[in-house]
Amino acid sequence: MSVWAVLAAAGSGERLGADRPKAFVRLGEQPLLAESLARLDESNWIDAIVVAAPPGWEEPAILLAEELGCGKVSACVTGGATRADSVRLGVAEVPSDAAVVVVHDAARPLLDDSVVERVVSALAEGWDGAVPGLPVADTVKRVDGELIVETVPRDALRVVQTPQAFVADVLRSALTGSDWTDCSAAVEAAGGRVRVVDGDPRLLKVTDASDLERVAALL
Ligand code: C5P
Repeated sequence: MSVWAVLAAAGSGERLGADRPKAFVRLGEQPLLAESLARLDESNWIDAIVVAAPPGWEEPAILLAEELGCGKVSACVTGGATRADSVRLGVAEVPSDAAVVVVHDAARPLLDDSVVERVVSALAEGWDGAVPGLPVADTVKRVDGELIVETVPRDALRVVQTPQAFVADVLRSALTGSDWTDCSAAVEAAGGRVRVVDGDPRLLKVTDASDLERVAALL
Protein backbone atom coordinates (compact mmCIF):
# COMPACT_ATOMS: atom_id res chain seq x y z
CA MET A 1 0.00 0.00 0.00
CA SER A 2 1.62 3.28 -0.99
CA VAL A 3 0.83 6.43 0.95
CA TRP A 4 1.46 9.78 -0.69
CA ALA A 5 1.49 13.12 1.09
CA VAL A 6 0.47 16.37 -0.57
CA LEU A 7 1.89 19.32 1.34
CA ALA A 8 -0.08 22.51 0.67
CA ALA A 9 2.43 25.31 1.01
CA ALA A 10 1.36 27.74 -1.70
CA GLY A 11 -0.50 30.32 0.36
CA SER A 12 0.58 33.95 0.24
CA GLY A 13 0.16 34.40 3.99
CA GLU A 14 -0.92 38.02 3.70
CA ARG A 15 -2.11 38.05 7.31
CA LEU A 16 1.48 37.51 8.44
CA GLY A 17 2.51 40.79 6.84
CA ALA A 18 5.85 39.33 5.74
CA ASP A 19 7.81 40.11 2.57
CA ARG A 20 7.52 36.50 1.42
CA PRO A 21 4.95 33.69 1.27
CA LYS A 22 4.00 32.12 4.59
CA ALA A 23 5.83 28.85 3.88
CA PHE A 24 9.10 30.80 3.70
CA VAL A 25 8.84 33.00 6.78
CA ARG A 26 11.36 32.09 9.49
CA LEU A 27 10.45 29.62 12.18
CA GLY A 28 13.56 29.31 14.30
CA GLU A 29 16.49 28.82 11.94
CA GLN A 30 14.49 27.53 8.98
CA PRO A 31 11.63 28.50 6.70
CA LEU A 32 8.24 27.42 8.14
CA LEU A 33 7.92 24.82 5.37
CA ALA A 34 11.01 22.96 6.64
CA GLU A 35 9.36 21.66 9.77
CA SER A 36 6.35 19.92 8.20
CA LEU A 37 8.42 18.76 5.23
CA ALA A 38 11.08 17.11 7.41
CA ARG A 39 8.46 15.55 9.67
CA LEU A 40 6.52 14.09 6.73
CA ASP A 41 9.76 12.81 5.24
CA GLU A 42 10.66 11.11 8.53
CA SER A 43 7.18 9.64 8.98
CA ASN A 44 6.94 5.87 9.06
CA TRP A 45 3.57 6.16 7.34
CA ILE A 46 4.50 8.25 4.31
CA ASP A 47 6.18 6.85 1.18
CA ALA A 48 6.36 9.91 -1.06
CA ILE A 49 5.63 13.63 -0.96
CA VAL A 50 4.35 16.24 -3.42
CA VAL A 51 4.87 19.87 -2.41
CA ALA A 52 2.60 22.64 -3.75
CA ALA A 53 4.83 25.73 -3.65
CA PRO A 54 3.91 29.39 -4.09
CA PRO A 55 4.33 30.63 -7.67
CA GLY A 56 7.99 31.62 -8.14
CA TRP A 57 9.10 29.66 -5.05
CA GLU A 58 9.32 26.19 -6.60
CA GLU A 59 13.10 26.29 -6.82
CA PRO A 60 13.65 27.39 -3.18
CA ALA A 61 11.23 24.63 -2.13
CA ILE A 62 13.19 22.00 -4.04
CA LEU A 63 16.51 23.32 -2.68
CA LEU A 64 15.11 23.25 0.84
CA ALA A 65 14.01 19.63 0.42
CA GLU A 66 17.50 18.76 -0.82
CA GLU A 67 19.18 20.61 2.04
CA LEU A 68 17.03 18.77 4.54
CA GLY A 69 17.75 15.46 2.83
CA CYS A 70 14.07 14.84 2.20
CA GLY A 71 14.44 11.91 -0.18
CA LYS A 72 10.70 11.22 -0.32
CA VAL A 73 9.92 14.44 -2.21
CA SER A 74 8.87 13.25 -5.63
CA ALA A 75 7.50 16.46 -7.16
CA CYS A 76 7.10 20.14 -6.49
CA VAL A 77 4.18 21.77 -8.29
CA THR A 78 3.21 25.41 -8.60
CA GLY A 79 0.23 25.99 -6.34
CA GLY A 80 -3.01 27.60 -7.45
CA ALA A 81 -5.00 30.67 -6.47
CA THR A 82 -6.84 28.87 -3.68
CA ARG A 83 -5.92 26.06 -1.32
CA ALA A 84 -8.38 23.82 -3.17
CA ASP A 85 -6.56 24.52 -6.45
CA SER A 86 -3.19 23.83 -4.87
CA VAL A 87 -4.41 20.51 -3.46
CA ARG A 88 -5.88 19.55 -6.85
CA LEU A 89 -2.59 20.35 -8.59
CA GLY A 90 -0.66 18.37 -5.99
CA VAL A 91 -2.97 15.36 -6.14
CA ALA A 92 -2.63 15.37 -9.94
CA GLU A 93 1.03 14.40 -9.42
CA VAL A 94 0.15 11.39 -7.28
CA PRO A 95 0.44 8.21 -9.38
CA SER A 96 -2.74 6.28 -10.11
CA ASP A 97 -1.55 3.23 -8.17
CA ALA A 98 -1.22 5.14 -4.89
CA ALA A 99 -3.57 3.74 -2.24
CA VAL A 100 -3.80 6.66 0.16
CA VAL A 101 -3.29 10.42 -0.03
CA VAL A 102 -2.53 12.43 3.10
CA VAL A 103 -3.09 16.16 2.67
CA HIS A 104 -1.27 18.43 5.10
CA ASP A 105 -0.93 22.20 5.47
CA ALA A 106 2.58 23.60 5.75
CA ALA A 107 0.94 26.18 8.02
CA ARG A 108 0.74 23.45 10.72
CA PRO A 109 4.43 22.73 11.34
CA LEU A 110 4.24 20.76 14.61
CA LEU A 111 3.26 17.47 13.03
CA ASP A 112 3.64 14.43 15.25
CA ASP A 113 3.86 11.04 13.58
CA SER A 114 1.20 9.66 15.94
CA VAL A 115 -1.38 11.88 14.20
CA VAL A 116 -0.30 10.58 10.79
CA GLU A 117 -0.63 7.07 12.20
CA ARG A 118 -4.15 7.74 13.49
CA VAL A 119 -5.49 9.12 10.20
CA VAL A 120 -3.80 6.56 7.95
CA SER A 121 -4.64 3.53 10.05
CA ALA A 122 -8.33 4.51 10.22
CA LEU A 123 -8.53 3.83 6.47
CA ALA A 124 -7.68 0.17 7.07
CA GLU A 125 -10.97 -0.03 9.00
CA GLY A 126 -12.91 0.81 5.86
CA TRP A 127 -13.35 4.57 6.16
CA ASP A 128 -13.02 6.75 3.05
CA GLY A 129 -11.15 9.38 4.99
CA ALA A 130 -9.96 10.31 8.45
CA VAL A 131 -9.23 13.73 9.95
CA PRO A 132 -7.85 14.87 13.30
CA GLY A 133 -10.34 16.83 15.40
CA LEU A 134 -10.40 18.55 18.77
CA PRO A 135 -13.38 19.25 21.03
CA VAL A 136 -14.66 22.82 21.05
CA ALA A 137 -13.76 24.56 24.30
CA ASP A 138 -15.83 27.71 23.84
CA THR A 139 -19.59 28.03 23.66
CA VAL A 140 -20.55 28.49 20.01
CA LYS A 141 -23.35 30.78 18.79
CA ARG A 142 -24.99 30.96 15.39
CA VAL A 143 -25.59 34.58 14.49
CA ASP A 144 -27.53 36.62 11.98
CA GLY A 145 -25.53 39.84 11.82
CA GLU A 146 -25.28 40.92 15.47
CA LEU A 147 -28.25 38.85 16.61
CA ILE A 148 -27.58 35.51 18.26
CA VAL A 149 -30.08 33.06 16.81
CA GLU A 150 -28.84 29.82 18.35
CA THR A 151 -26.50 28.34 20.92
CA VAL A 152 -25.05 25.33 19.21
CA PRO A 153 -24.58 22.24 21.43
CA ARG A 154 -20.82 21.84 21.40
CA ASP A 155 -20.64 18.15 22.32
CA ALA A 156 -21.28 17.30 18.70
CA LEU A 157 -18.74 19.78 17.32
CA ARG A 158 -15.08 19.29 16.44
CA VAL A 159 -12.46 21.69 15.19
CA VAL A 160 -10.60 19.80 12.50
CA GLN A 161 -6.95 19.96 11.50
CA THR A 162 -4.61 18.46 8.95
CA PRO A 163 -3.12 15.93 8.12
CA GLN A 164 -6.24 14.46 6.52
CA ALA A 165 -5.99 10.98 4.97
CA PHE A 166 -8.17 9.60 2.18
CA VAL A 167 -8.49 6.58 -0.02
CA ALA A 168 -6.73 7.97 -3.10
CA ASP A 169 -9.49 7.20 -5.62
CA VAL A 170 -12.17 8.66 -3.37
CA LEU A 171 -10.22 11.90 -2.96
CA ARG A 172 -9.46 12.18 -6.67
CA SER A 173 -13.09 11.98 -7.68
CA ALA A 174 -14.26 14.24 -4.83
CA LEU A 175 -11.85 17.02 -5.77
CA THR A 176 -13.70 17.67 -9.01
CA GLY A 177 -16.39 19.39 -6.92
CA SER A 178 -15.85 22.99 -5.88
CA ASP A 179 -16.21 25.37 -2.98
CA TRP A 180 -14.78 23.39 -0.10
CA THR A 181 -12.53 24.63 2.67
CA ASP A 182 -10.92 21.34 3.54
CA CYS A 183 -10.55 18.07 1.65
CA SER A 184 -12.84 16.32 4.08
CA ALA A 185 -15.68 18.65 3.06
CA ALA A 186 -15.16 17.64 -0.58
CA VAL A 187 -15.22 13.94 0.30
CA GLU A 188 -18.25 14.38 2.59
CA ALA A 189 -20.11 16.23 -0.19
CA ALA A 190 -19.34 13.36 -2.57
CA GLY A 191 -20.95 10.91 -0.12
CA GLY A 192 -17.73 9.61 1.45
CA ARG A 193 -17.60 8.44 5.08
CA VAL A 194 -14.96 10.36 6.98
CA ARG A 195 -13.94 9.49 10.50
CA VAL A 196 -12.74 12.00 13.05
CA VAL A 197 -9.80 10.78 15.15
CA ASP A 198 -8.08 12.52 18.07
CA GLY A 199 -6.36 15.70 16.97
CA ASP A 200 -3.30 17.29 18.53
CA PRO A 201 -3.42 20.68 20.29
CA ARG A 202 0.17 21.30 19.16
CA LEU A 203 -0.92 21.20 15.51
CA LEU A 204 -1.55 24.93 15.65
CA LYS A 205 -2.12 26.71 12.37
CA VAL A 206 0.09 29.68 11.69
CA THR A 207 -2.03 32.55 10.45
CA ASP A 208 -0.56 35.69 12.00
CA ALA A 209 2.66 36.74 13.71
CA SER A 210 1.42 35.77 17.18
CA ASP A 211 0.77 32.20 15.97
CA LEU A 212 4.33 32.06 14.71
CA GLU A 213 5.59 33.05 18.17
CA ARG A 214 3.44 30.41 19.85
CA VAL A 215 4.63 27.69 17.47
CA ALA A 216 8.28 28.77 17.85
CA ALA A 217 7.92 28.46 21.64
CA LEU A 218 6.70 24.87 21.20
CA LEU A 219 9.48 23.78 18.83
O1 C5P B 1 -4.23 30.53 4.03
P1 C5P B 1 -4.39 29.38 4.96
O2 C5P B 1 -3.52 29.47 6.17
O3 C5P B 1 -5.80 29.05 5.31
O4 C5P B 1 -3.85 28.14 4.15
C1 C5P B 1 -3.82 26.84 4.67
C2 C5P B 1 -2.74 26.05 3.93
O5 C5P B 1 -3.07 25.99 2.55
C3 C5P B 1 -1.36 26.69 4.05
O6 C5P B 1 -0.39 25.69 4.31
C4 C5P B 1 -1.17 27.35 2.70
O7 C5P B 1 0.18 27.39 2.26
C5 C5P B 1 -1.99 26.45 1.78
N1 C5P B 1 -2.48 27.16 0.59
C6 C5P B 1 -2.08 26.72 -0.66
N2 C5P B 1 -2.49 27.40 -1.78
C7 C5P B 1 -3.24 28.52 -1.68
C8 C5P B 1 -3.66 28.98 -0.40
C9 C5P B 1 -3.26 28.28 0.72
O8 C5P B 1 -1.38 25.71 -0.77
N3 C5P B 1 -3.57 29.17 -2.78
